[in-house]
Amino acid sequence: MKMFAYAAVVSMAIFAGCEKAEEAGRSVARKAGDLVGKGAAEFASGVGEGVGEVTKGNLPDVATAIATRKSVRRFDPERPVDDALVEKLLRAAMAAPTAVNKQPWEFVVVKEEETLKALAAAHPHSRISNGARLVICVCGNTDNGLPGRGKEFWIQDCSAATENLLLAAHGYGLGAVWCGVWPIEERVAAIRDVLAIPEGFAPLCLVTIGYPAENPPAKDKWKPEKVHKGRW
Ligand SMILES: Cc1cc2nc3c(=O)[nH]c(=O)nc-3n(C[C@H](O)[C@H](O)[C@H](O)COP(=O)(O)O)c2cc1C
Repeated sequence: MKMFAYAAVVSMAIFAGCEKAEEAGRSVARKAGDLVGKGAAEFASGVGEGVGEVTKGNLPDVATAIATRKSVRRFDPERPVDDALVEKLLRAAMAAPTAVNKQPWEFVVVKEEETLKALAAAHPHSRISNGARLVICVCGNTDNGLPGRGKEFWIQDCSAATENLLLAAHGYGLGAVWCGVWPIEERVAAIRDVLAIPEGFAPLCLVTIGYPAENPPAKDKWKPEKVHKGRW
């Protein structure tokens, strides 16, 4: 619950006066609250206690984090993400499930200004130029994961890691967005070049991360007609 409060204060501080966004947030929050209880509504609408609480370990419950996560594409350029928090994000990523527990991933953590600029040029939709101070490139082992028919499982493994990373970032009060790289060949080549990723590995995506400078509402994607009970 304190966690919700935390994000709330952040959004209130950053977005004070932005009534439209807040109302949109409250609307999604109400929907999220339907799913996971009152806590989610507080988390999404920004009513609660202090921001610092979140990094002290007061995290949202998993259902709330899932229901309220959203892509954030504008960041506070004055607030870098400290290394201890980066490690928490990476630990969350590496906690993901993988086929035959192969863990066929590598992570390139980028904070250097010049490299961030080069990545922004290599990936036109990366949102890095919107104030991001951190990018984590999630890479897969394309040669030494699973052999034969399981060879492509690295994509699912690294996607699971990416989603864990996004959820952790959200839980810790950061904003983040998954920026797809694989399988767009020219993006793969450009990012391989910037980050010196060796052959045998490939960049799946860039996760652009920072303290949020926008507070878009989480989308309500629940569509019961997508569910087929028993058989399609
Ligand atoms: C494979 C993949 C590639 C994506 N690539 C980009 C991207 O290049 N730039 C971007 O801003 N968002 C990108 N996104 C984020 C989606 O646009 C976003 O997840 C979607 O609109 C749903 O919004 P939400 O994340 O707020 O729920 C990507 C997401 C996925 C899963």
